[in-house]
Amino acid sequence: EINFFFPKQQTLAVIKPDAMEEHKEEILEAIRGRGFSVTQLKETELSREIAEEFYKEHKGKPFFSQLVDFMCRGPCAMLVLTKENAVEEWRTMMGPTDPEKAKETSPQSLRARFAADILHNSVHGSSNEQHAREKIYFIFGDIGTPTELNSCKETDQ
Ligand code: TYD
Repeated sequence: EINFFFPKQQTLAVIKPDAMEEHKEEILEAIRGRGFSVTQLKETELSREIAEEFYKEHKGKPFFSQLVDFMCRGPCAMLVLTKENAVEEWRTMMGPTDPEKAKETSPQSLRARFAADILHNSVHGSSNEQHAREKIYFIFGDIGTPTELNSCKETDQ
């Protein structure tokens, strides 16, 4: 199929620690069901340092240290998703940051279905293409190239 309007795009998705135990498989199925290719996948427990760097845009905000604690509390799944319009489509699948709002406006979204509250909100996705490129490089490096993340403890997949 040739699509002139939406060339393939990549985004970084994260299944956060709150969703890893109960909902990982369901989220992966939903992702594949929507036609995303999972181009990269690794499960890892983030160190504080890596989590702080990952969310550096939020440094100084009142929720920053809670956010970093939460992201380090157990393994995360880090994914590169490839699809036409991937950045926006994955954001749509996630739903709004706050699950209370998600339940009102997009009850089928992953956050409406799985998130407990605005902090423990199950999934992450890059907000634009530039961020996607930066975060993919930060987490995965060039494909096959070791990154700082390899100094974190990795779990079996
Ligand atoms: P943000 O980038 O605004 O949202 P999103 O994840 O939808 O792109 O915020 C990053 C994370 O910070 C968010 O997923 C959860 C946490 N957070 C809070 O805990 N409290 C808040 O008030 C906000 C705005 C975010």
